[in-house]
Amino acid sequence: MLILGIESSCDDTAAAVLKENVILSNVLTSQDSIHTKFGGVVPELASRKHLQAIHPVVETALEKAGVQLSDINLIAATRGPGLIGSLLVGYSYSKALSYVSNIPLIGVDHMAGHILSIFLGRTKPSFPYIALIVSGGTSSIYLATSYNDFQLLGRTRDDAAGEAFDKVAKLLGLSYPGGPQVAGNAENGDPRYVKFPRAWLSEDSLDFSFSGVKTAVLNHVNQQRLKNSELRINDICASFQEAIVDVLVEKTITAAKQNNIGTVVIGGGVSANARLREVFKKRCDAEELSFYAPKPIYSTDNAAMIALAGFHAFNHSGPISLDEDVYSRSQLG
Ligand code: KG4
Repeated sequence: MLILGIESSCDDTAAAVLKENVILSNVLTSQDSIHTKFGGVVPELASRKHLQAIHPVVETALEKAGVQLSDINLIAATRGPGLIGSLLVGYSYSKALSYVSNIPLIGVDHMAGHILSIFLGRTKPSFPYIALIVSGGTSSIYLATSYNDFQLLGRTRDDAAGEAFDKVAKLLGLSYPGGPQVAGNAENGDPRYVKFPRAWLSEDSLDFSFSGVKTAVLNHVNQQRLKNSELRINDICASFQEAIVDVLVEKTITAAKQNNIGTVVIGGGVSANARLREVFKKRCDAEELSFYAPKPIYSTDNAAMIALAGFHAFNHSGPISLDEDVYSRSQLG
């Protein structure tokens, strides 16, 4: 079975061709250079760029896979969550392609793509597992019991972890997307320089809150400026990153223990973070949990994970009607 995956939920236009779970092509155009001067994604600009990119990206994915559109058995496209204007470009394009070429369409929840992205790699976990999905738009913990069953255990009450990275980068004068910039500076910094707050919420809570740590960084920067003191960017980045990593790791491990699950998987753009992976590995080893992280290219948004999740959703429940619309908030769990 050949699946064409199409992803346009935020600022990356992506298409991939999979033969069941084998990747034949995986193409992506990034809009980072457009949004960087604004310090974040401008939705209207993102939609316009998706419109320009979508057809060439799909054609390139088919060409790189060495297949024609007529060879494709299923089109899998992201239906939500994300920016409505961006989603509408990819999803409407996919509906039209499905209609004119008579290929079944499946709408995929972007979060399901991240939860299953681990299966794009060589070492695959077995179900059940705890999945921490951390990106620019979400920070959520799921219990995954099969390719199609995901239970939401906790989520952020305010900023997503990636959003906090992006906002802190902006206030430190670093470029967008902020995560890789902050992580790069943190490599040469002291994580004990400032003890930024960790929001644990109530004792057993699996929810997150990252707006406090972001404000604490802002307060620190303002105080240093008032005192005319040097702004130690590398140390601030390392201290901020450590605060985020601590909370993400400990809450995910708590979720595994509360549910008696022996496997932890991470996904989403922030899961590309090297320090997060290092601390997860160490803590999971100590707690005798198996730990899986996707290759960094499959952590960030991509269409291969959408094709894979679409393949499993289609096997489970068949194609979707062309009347179905996109949605901005995740419908998982
Ligand atoms: O999943 P993703 O590619 O897309 C959306 O959220 O739409 O995630 C992007 C987010 C951004 O906030 C970016 O700053 C963050 O992931 N990110 C990172 C790293 N790489 C990307 N955050 C921390 N460390 C990284 N290495």
